[in-house]
Amino acid sequence: MSTPEHETRIYPPPEAIARQAHVSGMDAYRQLCDEAERDYQGYWARLAREFVTWRQPFTQVLDESQAPFFKWFEDGTLNVSYNCLDLNVERGLGDKTAIVFETDDGQVSRHTYRQLLERTCQLANALREAGVKKGDRVVIYMPMSVEGVLAMQACARIGATHSVVFGGFSAQSLRDRIEDAGAVAVITADEQLRGGKQLPLKAIVDEALSLGGCDSVRQVLVYRRTGGNVNFDPARDRWLHDAMAAQPTQCEPEWVGAEHPLFLLYTSGSTGKPKGVQHASGGYLLHAALTTKWTFDLRPDDIFWCTADIGWVTGHTYITYGPLANGATQVVFEGVPTYPDAGRFWRMIQDHKVTIFYTAPTAIRSLIKAAEVNPAADPRNYDLTSLRVLGSVGEPINPAAWEWYHQNVGGGRCPIVDTFWQTETGGHMITPLPGATPLVPGSCSLPFPGIMAAVVDETGKEVPWGQGGILVVKKPWPSMIRTIYGDPERFKKSYYPADFQGKYYLAGDGAVRDAKTGYFTITGRIDDVLNVSGHRMGTMEIESALVSHTELVAEAAVVGRPDDTTGEAVCAFVVLKRPRPEGEEAKRIAKELREWVGKEIGPIAKPKDIRFGDNLPKTRSGKIMRRLLRAIAKGEAITQDTSTLENPAILEQLSQTN
Ligand code: WT7
Repeated sequence: MSTPEHETRIYPPPEAIARQAHVSGMDAYRQLCDEAERDYQGYWARLAREFVTWRQPFTQVLDESQAPFFKWFEDGTLNVSYNCLDLNVERGLGDKTAIVFETDDGQVSRHTYRQLLERTCQLANALREAGVKKGDRVVIYMPMSVEGVLAMQACARIGATHSVVFGGFSAQSLRDRIEDAGAVAVITADEQLRGGKQLPLKAIVDEALSLGGCDSVRQVLVYRRTGGNVNFDPARDRWLHDAMAAQPTQCEPEWVGAEHPLFLLYTSGSTGKPKGVQHASGGYLLHAALTTKWTFDLRPDDIFWCTADIGWVTGHTYITYGPLANGATQVVFEGVPTYPDAGRFWRMIQDHKVTIFYTAPTAIRSLIKAAEVNPAADPRNYDLTSLRVLGSVGEPINPAAWEWYHQNVGGGRCPIVDTFWQTETGGHMITPLPGATPLVPGSCSLPFPGIMAAVVDETGKEVPWGQGGILVVKKPWPSMIRTIYGDPERFKKSYYPADFQGKYYLAGDGAVRDAKTGYFTITGRIDDVLNVSGHRMGTMEIESALVSHTELVAEAAVVGRPDDTTGEAVCAFVVLKRPRPEGEEAKRIAKELREWVGKEIGPIAKPKDIRFGDNLPKTRSGKIMRRLLRAIAKGEAITQDTSTLENPAILEQLSQTN
């Protein structure tokens, strides 16, 4: 495992923020960590009482009797949507703006807590009328929209478990997720509008359902976004506005146990099949609310903006649940950062006086490039003085991008919280706190208070600071993954492997702690998972997509290689069922295979680079040598020992790009 370049600059928390922060200074941070160290359950119980309003208070905190299937606050009951909406109205925030929504084409609308509550109730009633019951799964395939948030909240209200599928996934991927979840309903839109383009959603739902295996789906609710043409099956499909219009604006929440599954979210692992990460209600809501408040130092008058899509976990925790549970005002954006030009984010921060801005390194890196050539894209040409705190999420942020973000977006005044976490963790795990943590660019710094992160070797022994190793979490925490839907064995094997006697949560990342400060730096995935533009993908998934083109492809191997903008890029090595193509033919087939992967999984999975060979580099026992493929993909000279290789000549072939 490589040690990252040494980073010496340190940025102490700005005085103005530290003075009044929720966690104000390292002493306050250490006190919280000590409290958790001394009385782990007491610490989480105290916060669970402070951040969650329970219908029936819990008397048990952590149940480890069926480890690693941990339970938190199990005898407590609550409703997540009640906590996010009704409570704020009851506390006098009914007329406060909950969401400032800006469409792709720049129209702005404001939605108060009372309006969100009433519409959530109508949608929840519509779902109940359609026969959706507590425990049923509902797939949400929606554009970024207020309705998308409402759909999630409405499911939470009636105790249905939502599974949001990112609108960029293909019909095949959508079908797989609907089938695995056994969804009884799908909520979608006619089309989505992104970057001035209309993209179908309902048509993809139709196609997904026609592919078979989705007999569980009884109703499709369709939000009319663009008014584009859609096919309608009157026996199955219903316009969302029709279904909602007839419904009362009150809906008694379904009070559920703390462990009741709030949502499934499919993510990639080391095998070809995506896993349905299952989250519970009570513990998840606690960490969503808590981290939104502490990590961003959220205050009542903040304007919070997380640019993620609700199709990813970031959009779940830091759009749909965390900000609303805190009664915050947030911006929700339908479009993309580069439309109508690459100044869109900066213009929106200026227009809406955003105070907390949370985005991904990929977006920052692509906007740095745009700002170099286009003054309209240069953040320095906008009034960004409203900003107080900046955040980064989804992949490592390189020090150069960090410095640019800090200087040009944050005007040198705003702390950057580099938040490390995962779909499985539900919320932040390792992150600076704006009023406490001195910042080191490129390091996600220290664990959130109460998160027992450590770096260990293969046997589970902690390695000394300064030495790379495997990132683990030594104790269960409230918002952790509960299981992989329908596959508890895979849950155990993936996250609580026998290597660590089933005791530690395995994140799947490598990490190193700074020799002096103990700060964590994430060194990247240690499994076959890629991170392209902050989107997680399994190499096996892409390989299966490629070989499913049975007419053309005999064999395929996929690896990642570093990319300046997207962090990692997908590189595929392919053996065709016909002679190795060259020149124009190679280009044409590479293009066809790229489109194929786009259709099978979604555009985000399209290989950037496809190389053809007569064979793949294999050991004499037939194992593909991925280590070599990774070196070739990077364009490195092969200095490694290739003596165990069956067919050394093909290395030369595979080095040629198309
Ligand atoms: C993987 C999780 C975090 C929610 C969005 C992505 C990488 C995430 C960081 C960070 C370095 C990071 C890890 C992790 N990652 N945040 N701040 N620094 N790496 O969630 O799709 O579940 O992906 O993203 O490799 O395991 P996800």
